[in-house]
Amino acid sequence: MSQSRPMDSNCITLTRFFLAEQKKSPKATGELTQLLNSIQTAVKVISSAVRKAGITQLFGTVGETNVQGEEVKKLDVLANELFINMLKSSYTTALLISEENETVIEVETEKKGKYIVAFDPLDGSSNIDCLVSIGSIFAILKKDDNTIPTLKDTLQPGRKVVAAGYALYGSATMMVLSTGDGVHGFMLDPSIGEFILTDRNMQVPKKGNIYAINEGYTHQWDKAVAEYIQNKKDPAKGKPYNARYVGSMVADVHRTIKYGGIFIYPATKSSPNGKLRLLYECIPMAFIMSQAGGAASNGKIPILDVQPTSIHERSPIFLGSVEDVEEVLQIIKKYEK
Ligand code: AHM
Ligand code: MG
Repeated sequence: MSQSRPMDSNCITLTRFFLAEQKKSPKATGELTQLLNSIQTAVKVISSAVRKAGITQLFGTVGETNVQGEEVKKLDVLANELFINMLKSSYTTALLISEENETVIEVETEKKGKYIVAFDPLDGSSNIDCLVSIGSIFAILKKDDNTIPTLKDTLQPGRKVVAAGYALYGSATMMVLSTGDGVHGFMLDPSIGEFILTDRNMQVPKKGNIYAINEGYTHQWDKAVAEYIQNKKDPAKGKPYNARYVGSMVADVHRTIKYGGIFIYPATKSSPNGKLRLLYECIPMAFIMSQAGGAASNGKIPILDVQPTSIHERSPIFLGSVEDVEEVLQIIKKYEK
């Protein structure tokens, strides 16, 4: 009979990890740790709500549409309110950009700090009612001179990101974060309500054998994407890849980091800029992927080099193992000639 493992009296919680990181930098004020703590609290409550959504009748819609014209789910509303309330009350933020809010949210003067946070509070909402994994995504920015940012400071390229991460509400709840010094994963231990460091320095394999793309849109792809995916299924072009597509970006990206391969949401005829949003979906995931040794491109340039022009703009994305992303980019270049 197997014995249960003893409690770890020296476990590294998410807060402990970032306190130690903060101590490494003599200039650190502790505000980023405070900010990450407020996101951590939002994520814990969302996780708890996700786990009992049916029982507390959080499934279904509230009969409204969000700024993207999609149905708003009750869990979306709750997650958005949690992110906004926790971030504002952390006294570290000045401006918030949420997928659910048409305009930038300005934090009250008395609570203002130096950070800007762009977030998708509950991504993959079409998967809520069928209990498939969903997630939260965020990116944190500030001004170079550490002064209080204004509206024009919200449109910064991904190279300026201070920290980014996601929470995956999957078979377990996990937070994956980077402050620009590698990517670290923390699993929620529900018995103590703490995120515990389980995956230090996550690295995406250089090459994988999985492709993730919504193949229902094959008829809408350009020639390069069609050729790449066809190659991945053709035994004459090498060992065929496995197809996996959750339809929740966080789950698809997390699997790509763990197992390698490629995740693509390309431009299609009906969505010439793709579907996913630059500020709070593509940039944070590109930051994480790059920090984990992978790559992320919009098909032309690295996602992190794209200069945003509006807060809800969309971008095509090719993200994952360096060699897999490079392979599709070569095919795109071939068709550009
Ligand atoms: P959402 O923000 O409305 O949840 O949409 C974003 C999601 C991503 O998680 C996922 O990668 C994509 O939409 C799936 O879209 P599609 O159903 O077109 O394949
Ligand atoms: Mg989303």
